[in-house]
Amino acid sequence: MIVLGIETSCDETAAAVCKDGKIISNIVSRQVIHSKFGGVVPELASREHEILLNRVVHEAIKKANINLKNLNAVAVTQGPGLTGTLLTGICFAKGLAFGLDIPVVPINHLEGHIFANFIADPSLQLPFICLLVSGGHTQLWYIEAMGNYQLLGETRDDAAGEAFDKGARILGLGYPGGPEIEKAARGGNPGTVKFPRSLLGQNNLEFSFSGLKTSLLYFMDDFKETSKISKKDVIASYQEAIIDVLVIKVKRAMKIKNVNTCVIAGGVAANTSLRENLKMALDDQNIIFPELKYCTDNGAMISYLGEKKLKFENYKSMSFGASPNLKLS
Ligand code: KG4
Ligand code: ZN
Repeated sequence: MIVLGIETSCDETAAAVCKDGKIISNIVSRQVIHSKFGGVVPELASREHEILLNRVVHEAIKKANINLKNLNAVAVTQGPGLTGTLLTGICFAKGLAFGLDIPVVPINHLEGHIFANFIADPSLQLPFICLLVSGGHTQLWYIEAMGNYQLLGETRDDAAGEAFDKGARILGLGYPGGPEIEKAARGGNPGTVKFPRSLLGQNNLEFSFSGLKTSLLYFMDDFKETSKISKKDVIASYQEAIIDVLVIKVKRAMKIKNVNTCVIAGGVAANTSLRENLKMALDDQNIIFPELKYCTDNGAMISYLGEKKLKFENYKSMSFGASPNLKLS
């Protein structure tokens, strides 16, 4: 079976082709237009998808060495995400599928992220914990089987990626903030400033990063570099405060659910300090960081899950719309 996957939930225009469980092409175009605004501008993102989708999809088809007539189905992200950007992908997918007379499979973006771990590592064994840390989500999932997912905890306010992005703005760094903060923190002493770590109470698996961001804002108000404390030290301390909480909660979730495998997904998984600190804190457990192309938003996870879902259902109807707040139960 050959399935085209389309992903437009935020600012990546992505398409991929999955054939019998193998990804045979994976094209992602990250929109650069937002960098000067310090965050994603929804209306601009939708317009960019409109411009890019045709090219990205055709590139995915070409790279897969097939033609459109070989497709058995189109899978597309239904939500969660930005309404306008989701709609561009859904309309494109429906139009293409209607023309080719093949089904469209609506996919939950979060379920896609979870399943991307099986593309990255086909030997991955259930059950496992999945830490999803992106610009829009910070969630801890217990993955027991396909369709059997338990949300153990999530953020009450900002996502971890948002804490990096908003922190970078306060620090006068560029967007996206994660890589900028990581670069700027190199060589800094993370123990210099004691930024707050929230919700550390016993067995708590929720997150909160908005207090940390406010604390940085106040700190920077009257901060002056001295020989004792450099801006690098402040940035390293801020990064450490985000990472500390993630590490503590992952460790806690693994203990509570009594599992020894954890997969880290989402853009923040690119962070080297997060990787090192997790490996150090859980040196006797399996901590898996899939390749970044499967951690960040991509079409591969949508096509892969679409193909899997087609084995259980026909998907004859096209009467679904965008679900910006779609949940995973
Ligand atoms: O998964 P993703 O590409 O897109 C979604 O938000 O769905 O994640 C983007 C987020 C941004 O907030 C970005 O700042 C963060 O991932 N990020 C990082 C790093 N690279 C990207 N955060 C920390 N360290 C990084 N190296
Ligand atoms: Zn995502």
